[in-house]
Amino acid sequence: MTSRLDGPLKVTGEARYGVDHNLPGMAYGYLVLSTIAHGEIATMDTSAARSAPGVLGVYSPFEPLELWTPSSPLMGETWVPLQDKEVAYYGQPIGFVVAETFEQARDAAALVEVRYHERAALTSLEDGLDTAEDAPPPHREEPPSISVLADGVESIEDALAASPVVVEATYRTATQNHAAMEPHSAVAVWGSEGLTVYSGNQGSNLMAAELAGALDVDPSSVRVINPFVGGAFGGKARTSAPAFLAAATARVLRRPVKASLTREQVFTATAGRAATVQKISLGAERDGTLVAVRHDSWCSTAMDRSFVEPTSHGTSREWYATPNLAISQKMVPLNIPPTTFMRAPGEAPGSFALESAIDELAVKLDMDPIELRMRNNSTAPPGKDLQWSSKHLDECFRIGAARFGWANRSACGRMDGDWLVGLGTATAMFPAIRFPATVEVTLEADDTAVVATSGADPGTGLLTVLSLVGAESLDISPERVTPLLGDSVLPPGGMSGGSTATASAGTAIMIAAAKVIDELLALASGPDGPFQGMDVSYADGQVLDGNGRAMTFGEVLRSVGRPAVFATGSSAPGEELTKHSFSSFGAQFCEVRVHRWTREARVSRMLGVFDSGRIINQQTARSQIMGGMIWGVSAALHEGLEIEGNGRLANGDLAGYLVPVNADIPDVDVQFVEYPDTLHNAVGAKGLGEIGMVGMAAAIANAIYNATGVRVRHIPIMIEDLLDE
Ligand code: MOS
Repeated sequence: MTSRLDGPLKVTGEARYGVDHNLPGMAYGYLVLSTIAHGEIATMDTSAARSAPGVLGVYSPFEPLELWTPSSPLMGETWVPLQDKEVAYYGQPIGFVVAETFEQARDAAALVEVRYHERAALTSLEDGLDTAEDAPPPHREEPPSISVLADGVESIEDALAASPVVVEATYRTATQNHAAMEPHSAVAVWGSEGLTVYSGNQGSNLMAAELAGALDVDPSSVRVINPFVGGAFGGKARTSAPAFLAAATARVLRRPVKASLTREQVFTATAGRAATVQKISLGAERDGTLVAVRHDSWCSTAMDRSFVEPTSHGTSREWYATPNLAISQKMVPLNIPPTTFMRAPGEAPGSFALESAIDELAVKLDMDPIELRMRNNSTAPPGKDLQWSSKHLDECFRIGAARFGWANRSACGRMDGDWLVGLGTATAMFPAIRFPATVEVTLEADDTAVVATSGADPGTGLLTVLSLVGAESLDISPERVTPLLGDSVLPPGGMSGGSTATASAGTAIMIAAAKVIDELLALASGPDGPFQGMDVSYADGQVLDGNGRAMTFGEVLRSVGRPAVFATGSSAPGEELTKHSFSSFGAQFCEVRVHRWTREARVSRMLGVFDSGRIINQQTARSQIMGGMIWGVSAALHEGLEIEGNGRLANGDLAGYLVPVNADIPDVDVQFVEYPDTLHNAVGAKGLGEIGMVGMAAAIANAIYNATGVRVRHIPIMIEDLLDE
């Protein structure tokens, strides 16, 4: 149990986030957003804005900044603002005003007069279903449609028709926004060595590369600094408009520029989660054995089709053993803000549909839903030869059921005064992934060590994990390890995304630590070393000669007159991918109380039991999972963007976009079954950033059914959904 190292800085306000940087001569930028959802900008009259007090520059597609579309191996292409007059959604960045003060920039931005050639907009997923397109292959290298059929079975329809019990239903999930505490923002300054940008992101080296591409400068001349990030959740994986605009205007104005989105602007000028429609058909034997799984999904996407929410692939592809499987994924291009990665992209909305359907099947079979899930436990993803490297999902359910009092659950809930009380459960899964990462480990002459990688800690606890894995790898106490993170001049650390950071950076730390110890031993036994010509080994922070003589690594370095010795280690996914399938697993439990008369639904107890491989730090791991589970409650009962016909978000702010507050959330109980998965990586961690929210929305909907007998097949679930029956 180690408290977050950056916790004291954050809670005392000492941590400096991107916009907390104030530089001499700094100017302030403010974005202008479109007020139509589709069309072309005819004219932009910027004369009043230009002559407003303090204004230094006004930029638009008519007076553009020089920006190119950057492309990276991990992210693909990233959109840059103000490059053309097309408007594809309401709230699209179309202008940027820079002034001496924030207020002057904001007031001048309000003076920009925009005229449009407006075209009809398509903003509703339901209206667009007829014009859906096949999704391109998702990021996990799968084709858009997959069909696995048992020998002799002609089609999924035949398999379903031959199934003794069939459940078929359509589920819907809402558009969401990450709503991270820190709005997307940046402070940019050009100096003799190039550009420096202070901005929250999910990987400082990745942002530096995107900025270099957008500005057409050498990557080595861009430095991005982000030691503190106020939440990201996928929404800061790509560089956003404020950073591009601040960097480009700082270049032309030759002054530092600060740009931040307002809270309302965050909802449209960045990207959010797609809405989905998902049709699921399950065919089973009477004993619950699945015969056929069919999952057809439609997701909203922006007109640039830059992101697909892979619900079918994320869930039905991998969750249950079935001889017959058919999944398809379609996208519906709409005049809406872009969609992107959001915590458990695919699995979060996908698990609502699949895990609700499994519950419906359990009801139809009159079977315990945990027993049904265990009966269909998969040892490998259907249609793949590669078995799970480790899977302890059944144990998660057993532990969870005992801890939660599942045995006392009745198939039709219970009454407690005026409250209808129900229990629900669901499976959680999220693939265990790694990205390439490089870490530098330095041993210092004062017997401390430094573990450094560019990366980002967007609140996940990665900084603390670096010190813990570093300490373990160097066999010293964590207090002697200084972790450095969030600066693109450090070795490229990959991304804090995809639940990958601990497995990726952790493995690289172990490699770097082994190398630096080798370097140390070579110094110690080398011609000028204190153990000249001897066989030496390393343990407990010391070099040992086997005859009882020991020197700390600091003593060795001092004796040879070296201030430090360092090594870098790199890790990347490799051969293991040809041998096994990898995933984290979990079992979600919740108790929901629905008021008999008002029909309000309150979650009263929550438990999640997870198999995420080795847990490096119980405390930050638990916090991560708890946050995910709370987001699951939020998805089930609170969050959803309402898109009006004209493309305007009716509730695009934190007054109208509901997220849970403390009063909405009971105690959250988190348990881990700890089986280190060293087939996946040397650290044995499988990732837990996203899985906490997976399944929770379904568990709540299932609990509401258990309490009330009302099956709600969409989220968020509202009071009015529970009024009848
Ligand atoms: Mo994320 S959705 O782990 O960047």
